[in-house]
This record gives sequence, C-alpha cells and structure tokens, in this order.
Amino acid sequence: MSKINVLLLGSGGRECALAWKMNQSELLDNLYIAPGNAGTAALGTNLPQLSPMDFEAVGKAAVELGIDLLVVGNEDPLVAGITDYVKGNEALKHIKVVGPSQAGAQLEGSKDFAKEFMNRHGIPTAQHISVTASNIEEGYAFLDKQQAPYVLKADGLAAGKGVLIIDDLDEAKAELKAMLDGMFGASSATVVIEQFLSGIECSVFVLTDDRGSYALLPVAKDYKRVGEGDTGPNTGGMGSISPVSFADAVFMDKVRQRIIEPTINGLKQDGISYCGFVFFGLINVGGEPYVIEYNVRMGDPETQSVMARVDQDLIALMLQATGEQGFGESFTVKADERTAATVIMTSGGYPGKYEKGKEITGLDAVEGSVVFHAGTSLNVDGQLVTSGGRVLAVTSLACDKDAALALSYGNVARIAFDGSYCRRDIGFDL
Ligand code: AMP
Ligand code: GLY
Repeated sequence: MSKINVLLLGSGGRECALAWKMNQSELLDNLYIAPGNAGTAALGTNLPQLSPMDFEAVGKAAVELGIDLLVVGNEDPLVAGITDYVKGNEALKHIKVVGPSQAGAQLEGSKDFAKEFMNRHGIPTAQHISVTASNIEEGYAFLDKQQAPYVLKADGLAAGKGVLIIDDLDEAKAELKAMLDGMFGASSATVVIEQFLSGIECSVFVLTDDRGSYALLPVAKDYKRVGEGDTGPNTGGMGSISPVSFADAVFMDKVRQRIIEPTINGLKQDGISYCGFVFFGLINVGGEPYVIEYNVRMGDPETQSVMARVDQDLIALMLQATGEQGFGESFTVKADERTAATVIMTSGGYPGKYEKGKEITGLDAVEGSVVFHAGTSLNVDGQLVTSGGRVLAVTSLACDKDAALALSYGNVARIAFDGSYCRRDIGFDL
C-alpha cells in the first residue's frame, strides 16, 4: 500500500492520542493536525490557524496538502455537516472521511433524535419525554410520575454541561422551565426528561464501515466528576481505565446483540450514512446494558487509555473502514491484555474559571508513562504553558489497574504547573 497524508481535526487529549497512534503506522506519510496543541506538534505538523468549523478553509488545506484521509476528532464539525461538505465537493470527494454524515451525527447532536432512534429500533434506554415550551405541562406531569432523582437534558450540544440531575421535584420543574427559557441557549429549546437509571457506566467504541460491519475497540471507563468519589460538577473527564472489569464476555455479548448491532442496522434501515466512530455511553443496570447517550466520535479521556491498548495499525483500520469493501465482517480489534490507566491533570479551578499561561515543567523526568497533551501551547519564549482546563493526560500500561495507576500517579508527581489538580481515586469503583 502506498503511504498516505492524513488531516486530523481537533486539539484535545483525544486528538493527541489519535495522532500518537497514527504516527506509529507504516502507512503514514504526513500527519497534519488542525489546530492541534503542543503535544501533537511533536507527532505531526500543526495547522494552528485552521478552524475545523471553517469547512472551506479545511477543504482548501486538504487540497493543498494532498490529504487522502480526513479524521474528525470532535463532534462540532460533524454535527455541522463536514462529511457531507467533503463528499459533495468535486475537488474533495476523493478524500476518505472518518466521521459520519450530518444525519448520523444527530445521534449526538440531538438527544431527542437519539431517543427516537433507540425507541424505533428497540435499543434499551431510559424512558423519556421530549418537551418544548408548548408542552411544558406534559413535562411536569412526566416528572410527577418519576421517582427522584430527576434527569433533564438539553437536546442539543452543550459542551457536556447540558445534563442536570436533581433530587427535588419542585426544583426539577423550575429547572425545566429555566432550560426551556434558554439556560443553555438554543440547545435547551427542547429538553429530554428521562427516567433515572441506577448503575455503573462504561464507554464502548466501534469504528463502522457504512456497510454493516464494525470493529469493536477496547472498552473504557471514564470519571466525569471533578471531585473524589464522583462528587462535584461534571467535567470533560478526569481519568479513564481500560479494560473495565464488569464489561465481561456475558455483558459484552448483550451489548453487541442488543445495542451495537441494532444501532448499525438501524442506521442502515433509516438510510443514514455512517462511517466513523460510535461511542456508546452505557450503564449497567443489574447486569443489563442501557444506552445513556451516543457520541459520534471517540471519548476524551477514554481514547488515551484505549489507544494505549490497541494493538493494530490505526490507519490500516481507518482505510479498511472507509474503503470500497469495508471490513467484510465485524471483529474485535486486537488489544494489549494489560490495563491502561489515564490520569488527567487540570488547571486549578476547572471546570469553573481557571487561569492559563502557567509554565509546565518536569515532562522530561517522566518514565514509563505516555503524556498526552490537551490544553497546552508554547508561549512567545517557546516555553510549554497551560492553555486549557484539562492540561495533560498521563497514561500508563501495566499488569493490572493498581500498577498502571501507580505508574501514572508517580509521573503526575514529577510534572508541575501552578495550580495543577488531579483526582487521586481514578478506578476506585472497579
Ligand atoms: P449524558 O451527557 O447524556 O451522557 O449525561 C451525562 C451524565 O449524566 C451521564 O454520564 C450519567 O452519569 C448521567 N445520566 C444521564 N442520563 C442518566 C439517566 N437516565 N440515569 C442516570 N444517570 C444519567
Ligand atoms: N469522556 C466523555 C466524552 O468524551 O464525552
């Protein structure tokens, strides 16, 4: 096979991990990351001025750079239709794209769409009702019938902040009203109210070929709350572990039969083109898997732990997924049997207000872990500084979870920046 040029869109820890894995491929000629971060700059060529949301500029760069494969890391360009843009453009349509059509991206872009899709295809998920200002009374009546806690979700993208879980009924009704009145802007003009499901969550990922087959990637667990013991506000994710002990063969058989396959067949039945990652946010309720949410991209920080374990050429997988023949049949991606643990180091104050521009030191002392960058950049003096809430992901592989965590935490202690914070209890519930 001849070597290819790849353009990866995004700038987070997820993209750094994807870039790291792609960079190991024999099939890679040049890797470009737009806009990228200080970590991806060491793995390819950053295009810091190129916004993934500026499709025209992305297309122009793709032509100039001779891009063969476009990998869309984050959801915004997908929900805005970047894949359709490329496929519908004479000068671009030869480019292979990992990322679903705009219609497929609705699985993440609209929670109402996702719930209707699951109900239509018999995929287990929490009971729900979708409410707008015109049927708010039905929303109140649905809440009256539920038991606490109450789950309210903004329909549209809200940067992971659009879900409220509330213990008090009156407060839930007041928040429903506030959401419909614009608490999350246009994204909460429709609110999905859900039955609360009690259980432990995990993240399942597949790469689909748009031909009915898929590659199942290693399962991971993410730690979303900022505080130890899963307390405090939600973040993008404070750490991850892969594999997940409770996602055993019996559980995964149910996931394949009841969730993954009906999803892929459902997309086909609905005439929705989908070649890309599907992220199934699942909850295990007494051994039975339910879908909490779909995302149309990999998870962050799950990708860091997942890519550390993937034992196949990622670009070869992507070329197969996007190729004429697809995968042919579904399979499980070869994975390192060891456990990967990722600990996220954040700026002080995150997910609330935080400062940027803090110098980061100690990376050269790291041993036995990979450090993926998320919110980092180089300042005018060429120093590595913080530039986001989630700054670094420290990922390690070892014979078990405790050993992998010990490695990651040992290296976290070697890295310093003003105000740095991490959760000390990643993996506590496994
Ligand atoms: P989502 O953005 O839909 O993934 O929701 C964010 C988080 O809220 C999830 O990761 C769960 O921890 C929690 N959550 C969402 N929906 C439910 C539900 N129906 N029952 C229990 N917890 C939920
Ligand atoms: N870690 C959760 C997400 O990427 O949405």
